[in-house]
Amino acid sequence: MQQPGSILCVTLGGHSMRVAEQLLGRGWDLAQANDLAAAGRLQAHRSFMLGLLVVGAESTVPETAVEACIGASGGSEWVAVCEPQALESPAFRDLVLGSFFDHLLMPFHLNELELVLGHATQRAILRQRHDAARRHAVDALGMVGQGPAITRLREQIRKVAATEAPVLIGGESGSGKELAARAIHQCSHRSAGSFVAVNCGAISPSLIQSELFGHERGAFTGASSERRGLIEAASGGTIFLDEIGDLPIELQTNLLRFLQEKTISRVGGVRNIHVDVRVVAASHVDLAEAVAVGQFREDLFYRLNVLSIDVAPLRRRMEDVPILAEYFFQRCVAKSRTRVRGFSRQALAAMLAHAWPGNVRELFNRVQRAVVMTDRRLIGPADLGLQAVENVAGMGLDVARTAAERDVICLTLTRVGRNITHAARELGVSRMTLYRLMEKHGIALESESRLHVAPVWPEPAPVIRPTPSPRVGDPLEAMMNAPSAGFHADWAGAGKPAGRA
Ligand SMILES: Nc1ncnc2c1ncn2[C@@H]1O[C@H](COP(=O)(O)OP(=O)(O)O)[C@@H](O)[C@H]1O
Ligand SMILES: [Mg+2]
Repeated sequence: MQQPGSILCVTLGGHSMRVAEQLLGRGWDLAQANDLAAAGRLQAHRSFMLGLLVVGAESTVPETAVEACIGASGGSEWVAVCEPQALESPAFRDLVLGSFFDHLLMPFHLNELELVLGHATQRAILRQRHDAARRHAVDALGMVGQGPAITRLREQIRKVAATEAPVLIGGESGSGKELAARAIHQCSHRSAGSFVAVNCGAISPSLIQSELFGHERGAFTGASSERRGLIEAASGGTIFLDEIGDLPIELQTNLLRFLQEKTISRVGGVRNIHVDVRVVAASHVDLAEAVAVGQFREDLFYRLNVLSIDVAPLRRRMEDVPILAEYFFQRCVAKSRTRVRGFSRQALAAMLAHAWPGNVRELFNRVQRAVVMTDRRLIGPADLGLQAVENVAGMGLDVARTAAERDVICLTLTRVGRNITHAARELGVSRMTLYRLMEKHGIALESESRLHVAPVWPEPAPVIRPTPSPRVGDPLEAMMNAPSAGFHADWAGAGKPAGRA
């Protein structure tokens, strides 16, 4: 266990042990080592919050060895105490600048050293907190996030992983559906088997049947030998059918048979082959809607939809944006030699103001690009391809307000069957106001049956406007400012009529 203020004091170059003794005399918890080997042995047994390197004039220990010792000390902060001549050496200067929190030149006053050690302790505590938060952020499934949405997703994954039923994962592109599917497989008793991912939208309709179900020799021109399909290849494991909405309707029938009977027959074959595979499917389009317009078999939909999971779009879990950005940043810098240290405050503000239409994938791409493109130590909004946010202080509320407004309108339109008159009445605004708001949010009624929300990606982030003052006589605006005003919607529990909550 690391104790606050615990110090590993390494004295090199035959300097007297007086520094260590004086610190012990003042009550510091300190262990002494006279060379790096002894320091290594001490570090193997316990960890220290601080390292103190005392270098005498006669020290001949190479800097690389000192650096290795510091590297082995994990999150400790190091302070150097040295003779002024030691700094004549470029290698030693480089070591001090790169690996030490601070340094003191001899002779020094003990109070001065204690002050530096105190500051270094604060910094070590901060670093530990930061590292711990980062460790908790990424779980064994490679999923980053701490907000309620991702916590709930993890719980759902654990629950469905314990069963054998098909799972249908919904969510926008780039939100993490495939990651969730992999997580389900990893958590299930099938984890030792294979996980086979198939993008139904990416395989040509003429090939997909033999890809999925395999074919017998001579089944069609060019089928010179028999071939197992992807479903068979996933035997004992999980098959992930991504973009299942793109599966041609005749293959939907085959898939339904497989789900019901656990058998497949290859193209050109007569045998029924038993296959033990769990099916996880995903779609970014609303399958219930595809059923309604006759593009997806209703029976297959119900068969797949036994267990369903929705991965929230990133804009609904903005609390995870900084932690995801940091995670992707660490992954990018680990692979490249770069001086970039992290994100500027403006970059974080710009990320929090962005609507992320491309979801987590977009965030990853932007961070990757920024690490490559930036010339500075801290990534700025422009490096991310985002607009700077002017009103940083007011940002949180305004972004939330805009998103909430858009949500309420979409939900209401969906509930009332896209009827503008009914939606306007429910929202308590005039039809004109509703049209204006729909235009503002890029919401269009493409046809009778489809609600279309215009994608913003890859256009730049929406600029944060100063909070508009509520207009008198505009109940929707008023509702946004005072959630208890009379609005009847099941949206996140807000807007319940006062007195009925
Ligand atoms: N919670 C998360 N933590 C870490 N990486 C994530 C998370 N969600 C998504 N990603 C990453 O974002 C990218 C897009 O995710 P993916 O699962 O392919 O999305 P989808 O299948 O919904 O299009 C992948 O690189 C994935 O690893
Ligand atoms: Mg995908």
